[in-house]
Amino acid sequence: MTATEASLRSKHARYVLTPWSVQGASDRPVIVRGSRSALFDEDGKRYIDLSSGLVAVNLGHAHPALIEAIARQAARICYVSPALYNDERAEFAAELSALAPWEEGARTFFTTGGGEANEDAVKVARHLTGRTKVLAAYRSFHGSAPGAGTLTGENRRWPNEPGPPGVVHFVAPFPYRSPFSTEDPATETARALEHLELVLTYEDPNRIAAVLLEPIVGTNGVGVYPEGYLAGVRERCERHGILLVFDEVMTGFGRTGEAFAAKRLGVTPDIITFAKGATSAYVPLGGVLLREGLAEAFDERVFPTGHTFSGHPLAMAAGRAALRAYQDEALFARAREIEGWLHAGLHGIRERIPVVGDVRGLGAFFGVELVRDRKTKEPIAPWQGPAMGPLPVLLRRMLDLGVYVFGRYNILLIAPPLVITQEELREALQVLEQALDEFQAM
Ligand SMILES: Cc1ncc(COP(=O)(O)O)c(C=O)c1O
Repeated sequence: MTATEASLRSKHARYVLTPWSVQGASDRPVIVRGSRSALFDEDGKRYIDLSSGLVAVNLGHAHPALIEAIARQAARICYVSPALYNDERAEFAAELSALAPWEEGARTFFTTGGGEANEDAVKVARHLTGRTKVLAAYRSFHGSAPGAGTLTGENRRWPNEPGPPGVVHFVAPFPYRSPFSTEDPATETARALEHLELVLTYEDPNRIAAVLLEPIVGTNGVGVYPEGYLAGVRERCERHGILLVFDEVMTGFGRTGEAFAAKRLGVTPDIITFAKGATSAYVPLGGVLLREGLAEAFDERVFPTGHTFSGHPLAMAAGRAALRAYQDEALFARAREIEGWLHAGLHGIRERIPVVGDVRGLGAFFGVELVRDRKTKEPIAPWQGPAMGPLPVLLRRMLDLGVYVFGRYNILLIAPPLVITQEELREALQVLEQALDEFQAM
């Protein structure tokens, strides 16, 4: 470690509050530069970014077209009040409308991140329906500030409690650890929908404005719902005049092999929230995509929300350049190619390494679930426990071996940039296998 790095590390630990961590207890590299799928620290050590940061840098680091677009926009104008119109904002929203899953098109309300987008989606759904309650799933993450944190269905909600009223959680399918006591996916779907019906009955469907769901569960395990579940939720929403909101903050912009997971899964919501990959995380940006049939209600009434940074020109320019790059480099299709590599590579690791209990995912978005015992499925750390258990030791070892990966409790999120080469992925998976092999021998 160089003297500079030691001082930067201590400065970071001394002055920066690191999210979701006990401060001062961590030992992390100081990243100073990136290039495509690689991160570099102060010493020039390279780390393959196997999780695209927090599943966000879909285009990889230092993409020249994005850098150029941001610089060009910065030289022209950095800020335009959201109360005025702006050229890049108009163009980007029109491009998003073309990308959205609705034939009728969509309008976008821009935010600065995913949690804010979810809060605004809920607010809009309440205004449109005149109803107050919102249903969200357990084992979900929708953001951490009090509004979005209240929608969240796991322990990152708890520090907000008591949160704003009106949010009710329900249990969604999770085939590997079925909350509905079955190993059969069709039964899981049927029982989960029966449970949802019960929740609707007890809460009164006429009081429910929206059901909010991650179409593929992200940080709570990369859970792909069993066949028919999302369609069943869609059908019940329609029956009761409830708006279906997909939180595509993690799944949007190519992660699952389509612009949105809604397209990949063939179930269309009424509202989509996004962030992360919209600018490949180069500039903070989130947003609410509202299908045209809903958005036009606001031609006659006030749109009930706003932020200083809504539609920030630097984010708009970055978003437009990102969309062009996704298209020019055919990266949504590439995510499906990566799916094949990840599927083969991770299932191979599962066959050889018993601590890997399950591997699941779609596109360039896979979860690896670690267990003490494959039969009992006992996780290596109790899910939602007060500490992360031994996982940080594994993550640290992977950093030492040159791979960054994001994980929680007993789940690793394997979601590389869509520009990763097959060779880089092979190298990263070899490191993963070595680190897991050492880990289970500990
Ligand atoms: C599915 C999902 N929704 C919302 C969020 C919150 O987004 P942000 O951190 O930009 O507020 C996240 C963040 O990881 C997420 O994964």
